[in-house]
Amino acid sequence: MSTYAKSRIKEAAFSRLLSVVLITLLGAFLIICLLRTSSVYDPVIGDAYGSAESLQMIFNYTRMTERLNLPKQNELSIRLGKINELPPRNLDLYRNLAKDNVVIVLYVHNRPQYLKGVVDSLSRVEGISETLLIVSHDGYFEEINRIIEGIKFCQVKQIFAPYSPHIFQNSFPGISPTDCKDKDDPVKKKCEGTPDQYGNHRSPKIVSLKHHWWWMMNTVWDGLKETHQHMGHILFIEEDHFIYPNAYRNIQLLTELKPVKCPDCYAANLAPCDVKARGEGWQSLIAERMGNVGYSFNRTVWRKIHRKAREFCAFDDYNWDITMWATVYPSFGAPVYSLRGPRTSAVHFGKCGLHQGQGEKEACIDDGSLNIQVEDVDKVPNIKTDWGVHVVQKQAGYQAGFRGWGGWGDTRDQQLCLDFAKMYDLGSR
Ligand SMILES: *[C@@H]1O[C@H](CO)[C@@H](O)[C@H](O)[C@H]1NC(C)=O
Ligand SMILES: *[C@@H]1O[C@H](CO)[C@@H](O)[C@H](O)[C@H]1NC(C)=O
Repeated sequence: MSTYAKSRIKEAAFSRLLSVVLITLLGAFLIICLLRTSSVYDPVIGDAYGSAESLQMIFNYTRMTERLNLPKQNELSIRLGKINELPPRNLDLYRNLAKDNVVIVLYVHNRPQYLKGVVDSLSRVEGISETLLIVSHDGYFEEINRIIEGIKFCQVKQIFAPYSPHIFQNSFPGISPTDCKDKDDPVKKKCEGTPDQYGNHRSPKIVSLKHHWWWMMNTVWDGLKETHQHMGHILFIEEDHFIYPNAYRNIQLLTELKPVKCPDCYAANLAPCDVKARGEGWQSLIAERMGNVGYSFNRTVWRKIHRKAREFCAFDDYNWDITMWATVYPSFGAPVYSLRGPRTSAVHFGKCGLHQGQGEKEACIDDGSLNIQVEDVDKVPNIKTDWGVHVVQKQAGYQAGFRGWGGWGDTRDQQLCLDFAKMYDLGSR
């Protein structure tokens, strides 16, 4: 063989090797790209919240919803979706929010007498003018709106759950004519619906509570331009909670003390976990299991909760709080403690004489008047920064393994709930 021929063979072999290497590199690059897109963009399990840029979402309600299988909207529901994008009220009175503000979210349905009580109590809260109050509505009621429109003590933003069962008269998520009722057999009756573990079909009025809570959580953390960059805590209260004048300053103190005094605490609470308790009166902070009156947490905790969307949406219990206690919190792997003071700054009230054996100390409302005693100690911050923390280790309550009270068996409700969790993630991509 001539030298020329030999060098031709070497050249050919080299260029074959080169192309193999190049193709392999290209392939590996493509696979990495594919893996990255699929793992980063799964909106329910994926955690795509590393950088500040990914929090810069595009707030386009139409675009967010048209890519999910959300129920067909009616006129009212579309209108409400648009109201949700309006700026807060009272911007002329309160131009700026304080740097360390704790946003307050009040969720309401349709008990105007109760709501008047809460709003009146909020108007006396020291420091409230420094923050934004978001009112989240389940349903659209003129009388409720009038009460909210009358608020002048801080910035107020109203949002309405556009898929509330209360605004759909004859289709899902409301009642549709083809729905199964009570214990109907879907095959025999040729009706639509999946019964819960006890054989009962959905009741729109009952499922609306869990839907509203989940829609609201997703919306206030991830779907509003006013709050999607809020890095502090958000405090959640309901239309039947009375808020003491020191509540805002106390929650600010608690959230400030939490990383130092109780690094394992997930949240800060205004009230004890036992809704009837008013606190021990000790000279000490208390860490106990998460309560459902006046609870507050930050975005890190919300991301942890959001990652459990599947568990939350599949659990057959129509109560959001029991769903959290029995499935979501136990899945975190460690006890979920909340930090609070030894004297309550919020109470849950009901209608007088509704419960059997109700003592005189029970907060209740009758003819629009509340029977709640506000003493001088409730008017000023009453948490001391040098206090220690008493940890309540063993506490009764719902545990992992509880199968739920039912009422949440319909796969359409479970799907709607999952869609709420994906709604704003899709909007950003
Ligand atoms: C929102 O998205 C829809 C559908 O993609 C589009 O038609 C509309 O122009 C967008 N609106 C804005 C304000 O970007
Ligand atoms: C939010 O709270 C959790 C639990 O208390 C804490 O571990 C985390 O560092 C906090 N995140 C931010 C951003 O402050």
